[in-house]
Amino acid sequence: MKILVIIPAAGSGTRFGGELPKQFQQLGGKPVIQRVIERFLFHEDVVRVVVAVSEQLLASVAQAPGDRVRFVRGGDTRQQSVTLAFRSVEEEFDIVAVHDAVRPFFADATFRAAIDEAVATGAALPAISMTDTVHTVRGDLLDLTLDRSTLVAAQTPQCFTQKVLREVLDRAEREGEQGTDEAGLAARYGFPVKVVAGDSINFKITRADDLALAETILARWS
Ligand code: CTP
Ligand code: MG
Repeated sequence: MKILVIIPAAGSGTRFGGELPKQFQQLGGKPVIQRVIERFLFHEDVVRVVVAVSEQLLASVAQAPGDRVRFVRGGDTRQQSVTLAFRSVEEEFDIVAVHDAVRPFFADATFRAAIDEAVATGAALPAISMTDTVHTVRGDLLDLTLDRSTLVAAQTPQCFTQKVLREVLDRAEREGEQGTDEAGLAARYGFPVKVVAGDSINFKITRADDLALAETILARWS
């Protein structure tokens, strides 16, 4: 099995704030992004990891041609960053996994389940059921309450066959569609997307407070 991992890491972390984007913040003495890359390199089927970073950062990374990890320039949106990373590789892979740079706590079992389901179905995403009630709002007024039983929160790594992801990214670009994840676009374009069990530990570092939570989890996590 040959797996390509794409890590979009070119965001500026507006919700997190501060000068240094959240993916480069230290977590247990290492940048978050480094932890994420190392976790993927631990899997022997992962033959390449492509990380999309800002142009500024790209200028400062040293890369050798034989490296399993490669850095490329990202884009203005997450989807563009994923597309640029995807198109930077020429080899064939059985599965392409897309993972947020700021989810350091994905479980190996989740990754494996997503890979297996993507092999069987073409696309798979880890997700968790909603625990909070979710409302829509208009300004600061509550509008509608959504039916929680039909909602899940999407996580990563989202896995696809290379063919499915290529079709999804190409079509989204052609149609000028911006999605916040690739699995959502795949489903919109009629591809079956299997949902596998994620877990709440696999959360996305989003706001400044989340870093302290991540340190706490890391201290207990093996
Ligand atoms: N990302 C990216 N390129 C962009 C925007 C986002 O590669 N132009 C990446 C982020 O670096 C992150 C992942 O997509 O790893 C998930 O995005 P998100 O959590 O929204 O990060 P940011 O966009 O950086 O944060 P914010 O939305 O708060 O600005
Ligand atoms: Mg964002």
